Amino acid sequence: MTAPAAPAPPGGGGRPRVVLSMYPGLEPYALRPEHRAALAEVADLLAPEAVQALPVDRADEVLAAADVVLGHWGCVVLDEAFLARAPRLRMLAYAAGTVRDTVTPATFARDLLVTSGAAANAVPVAEYTVAAVLWANKAVFTERERLRGAELPALPRRHPVGNWGKRIGLVGASHVGRLVVELLRPYHCTVVVADPYLTDEGAAALGVARVELDELLATCDVVSLHAPALPETAGMIGAAELARMMDGATLVNTARGSLVDHDALVAELRAGRLTAVLDVTEPEPLPADHALLHLPTCVVTPHLAGSQGTELARQAELVIEEIRRFAAGEPPLHPVAAADLGRVA
Ligand SMILES: NC(=O)c1ccc[n+]([C@@H]2O[C@H](COP(=O)([O-])OP(=O)(O)OC[C@H]3O[C@@H](n4cnc5c(N)ncnc54)[C@H](O)[C@@H]3O)[C@@H](O)[C@H]2O)c1
Repeated sequence: MTAPAAPAPPGGGGRPRVVLSMYPGLEPYALRPEHRAALAEVADLLAPEAVQALPVDRADEVLAAADVVLGHWGCVVLDEAFLARAPRLRMLAYAAGTVRDTVTPATFARDLLVTSGAAANAVPVAEYTVAAVLWANKAVFTERERLRGAELPALPRRHPVGNWGKRIGLVGASHVGRLVVELLRPYHCTVVVADPYLTDEGAAALGVARVELDELLATCDVVSLHAPALPETAGMIGAAELARMMDGATLVNTARGSLVDHDALVAELRAGRLTAVLDVTEPEPLPADHALLHLPTCVVTPHLAGSQGTELARQAELVIEEIRRFAAGEPPLHPVAAADLGRVA
């Protein structure tokens, strides 16, 4: 990402004044008492609850004084109308991952510093992915179904069961994808990555081979998706791409449901040629009678791979550190530039 210059000290030369913006009710989970105490060491929180939860008059008052929006899931969109209410605003410190839906051209026109918590939210997604890879290669999911008496199609066994020596293909050298590379290191498998923005040098630094998507699909025991939902990635795994996958291979999707043609996937899963682990679908949730929820060759979870419960602490710590750095005039660790938005989540 393009690193912007270090921000100037907050307006007034004092401690930054921070306003929260997230789904009302999320505040106690997003910022536990220890995080509020850590934030209070570097900044002044203008209201304990999200700006959306405040009466309009009070919201106008805190926005007029705010230097920083500490955003999280459900953050307001920083468009012209919102920015007009916050004339002093200098920073969006976003604790969650997908900041593209929160910022607008007006955000960058105002030269706001934008930081993202994607690196923190990526950790549990990568952990989930590695668990899915390891269990899929052990045929845990399908053997459990067999034990329960499910009628499984005759599953092909192109490769023997096991994790040793398997080839794992990651689509997207994203925050999540890069962590998956790291977490898979002890397992004696080969990891290859397909990402149109990844250079050979970048792949070498990551310690993986860069391959084209077609080669990845045709050669990997597990194909795991880590690309963002963009117009160019919608349906990128369709019937032709699924057909390229090896007999007995597993598709893991923790990215976004829009990347995959679900009808084509159902056909492959029904035939028993492929298996799948899906944390994301389209729509979410799927209708209760959807085939993906009932096929013994498919495991669906309800978009739970990202931070939940204790894992939210990681995002809080990241965003408070970014505000501390802003207050100290240090450059952010996780800046987002307008130019990045065409390829990131
Ligand atoms: N399941 C969950 O709870 C959960 C949580 C967090 C993120 N996600 C999803 O995981 C995915 C990765 O998130 P992230 O924050 O790590 O992403 P990121 O923004 O860090 O990186 C996106 C990567 O995708 C690459 N990319 C862009 N177009 C591509 C294409 N056509 N083919 C292959 N790669 C392409 C980019 O070069 C970039 O490396 C996103 O889809 C995100 O929405 C899901």
